[in-house]
Amino acid sequence: MKSLIQKLVAIPGPSGYENEIREAVRAEIEAYADEIRVDALGNLIARKAPSGANSSGQRVMLSAHLDEIGIIATHIDKNGFVRFSNLGGVFPRYTPAGRVRFLNGAAGVIDTEKIESSFRVPPINEMYIDVGASSRADCPVKVGDVAVFERTFSEMGNRLVSKAMDDRISVAILIAALKGLKASPHDLYFVFSVQEEVGVRGAATAAFGIEPDLGLAIDVTRTGDTPKGITMEVSLGKGPAIKIKDSGMIADPRVVNWMVNRAQADKIPYQLEVLERGSTDARAIQLSRSGVPAGCLSIPCRYIHSPSEMIDLGDVENALHLLLGLLQNPIELK
Ligand code: CO
Ligand code: ZN
Repeated sequence: MKSLIQKLVAIPGPSGYENEIREAVRAEIEAYADEIRVDALGNLIARKAPSGANSSGQRVMLSAHLDEIGIIATHIDKNGFVRFSNLGGVFPRYTPAGRVRFLNGAAGVIDTEKIESSFRVPPINEMYIDVGASSRADCPVKVGDVAVFERTFSEMGNRLVSKAMDDRISVAILIAALKGLKASPHDLYFVFSVQEEVGVRGAATAAFGIEPDLGLAIDVTRTGDTPKGITMEVSLGKGPAIKIKDSGMIADPRVVNWMVNRAQADKIPYQLEVLERGSTDARAIQLSRSGVPAGCLSIPCRYIHSPSEMIDLGDVENALHLLLGLLQNPIELK
């Protein structure tokens, strides 16, 4: 699992440019899926048909997003400095002195214009990327080129730190679930979605095409366990979180109960999550067609949308265990 995670986080996949990560995931799952397709928006959709002639099964859509936050070049000045805009939720305070890697291989370092007050974090339009050029002509980057943040992968005991843990950690969990799945009465669609970070766009088209009876997103969530951090119940290392609400959706209470009951039956530690900022693919699934009961299995993560997102391997193992239990047993929403 650790080596799969390390492999997945290293592959660049800014929103809208998920080609390379999609092909890497496809290679991992090809031998385990009954059908694989890519929809017009770029979602990778792997179906695992129900085993046996079981009429009690449901059509379940699982979704983990392939894309990661990044930047897009908006202007190159006469000295070859690149101005940029965000692709997804890029926090200005995490950005200066960071490095980026463009999809064409060009590297760059980000800094800010002269700072008048050290108490103010400048907005992204007062930052630039130095790609080592000295003129527009020798700049290896052109307007519209996209990049992801670059930072080395680190292991700190049971905790792993990298860029793109959001949401490759869940991509890894879905891959492991597909590989580890024993008989399931359900018709399962494993969706590796695109363009989540720019407004859960991929999950919307995937859900329309699949028309699921039930939807479950797997994504990271914030924690409230750091010094003078946000007030939030979720902690790193205390188990996966079962989402009750975030700022984009209210999870179907029947789906919450289904997940809580399974965790209790299987003696898996879990936490209840109310997230005040942010949302997931579950929002798009819930609102597709005439509505779908939906929920979200969340992986606690510190420093979300920074190049150093931290997860706990115990939470990952417990999330996988819970997910397998959810999928291998009959589903009754009540
Ligand atoms: Co995100
Ligand atoms: Zn995410």
